[in-house]
Amino acid sequence: MTVLLATDVDAAALGLWRGLLQAALPDERIVTDRQTVDDAEIDIAIVANPPPGTLQGLTHLRLIQSLWAGVDKLLADASLPPAVPIARMVDPAMSTAMAETALWAVLSLHRGFFEYAAQQRTQTWQPLPQRRADEVAVAVLGLGEMGRCVALRLAAQGYCVSGWSGRPSTLQSMATHHGDEALTGVLRAADIVINLLPLTPVTQGFFCARRFEAMRPGASLVNLARGAHVVDADLLAALDRGHLQHAVLDVFNTEPLPADHRYWRNPHVTVLPHAAAQTDARSAADIAAANVRRLRAGDAVQNLVDRTWGY
Ligand code: GLV
Repeated sequence: MTVLLATDVDAAALGLWRGLLQAALPDERIVTDRQTVDDAEIDIAIVANPPPGTLQGLTHLRLIQSLWAGVDKLLADASLPPAVPIARMVDPAMSTAMAETALWAVLSLHRGFFEYAAQQRTQTWQPLPQRRADEVAVAVLGLGEMGRCVALRLAAQGYCVSGWSGRPSTLQSMATHHGDEALTGVLRAADIVINLLPLTPVTQGFFCARRFEAMRPGASLVNLARGAHVVDADLLAALDRGHLQHAVLDVFNTEPLPADHRYWRNPHVTVLPHAAAQTDARSAADIAAANVRRLRAGDAVQNLVDRTWGY
């Protein structure tokens, strides 16, 4: 049987992935071009944002392993073979990278480092009031693998952290909340809101005027999940009128962020190029390979996506 490796990456990255996967799975035939084999031979697909339609008609598929943590784009492909188990990437290396980015964003907002960078551009010397970390309330929205890792890292750094998720979830030594009713209170209490929610039809446009209104005046948003969680016009309006202080955005409705987008030049916005936590091929190839081996051995595949929930 054959593994199809389907991605949207360039030839060099594809070569890297293929080499690492082949080394981890020496007994598997791995192809990157579906045309080179019979469809009936392909029983596993390892994918990273494959163009829509890539897996259409692969009736012998037994597993789709994503190299991305978020599977929203994959699930949006209406031609995806139904009922085939989908596993997403859960890699501690990615969670660590995400925690580092979140820590940088929170430290920068807490200690005014974005403002000092702006001051340097105008040769301004103006120390800002200094708060302690435990005086800064941070809400982490989304308590999956990454959200939990981020929340724990920030708490270890001394921040006053609370967690919120759509479904109940607990986290040691931290207040966690769930559901719509608790959300307003969580948003109201936070100086910094970090978004790590999965993108689903329910969370699309989650950060809209109503939610920004619920946030504390002077609060900041850190979006490390998906651009489509945010209604851009509503965020810009909240920043323009000074209700929100700053937004750190790693993800956007259109990526790369178009050159004429208002986010680029807004002094209250910090833009990252979807780089908060990139898949590390070295560790992720082994994690994907382990799931392939589990399937071949008849063992339970790990990190399966619930298609109904969308994550
Ligand atoms: C990155 O955004 C991922 O989902 O892995």
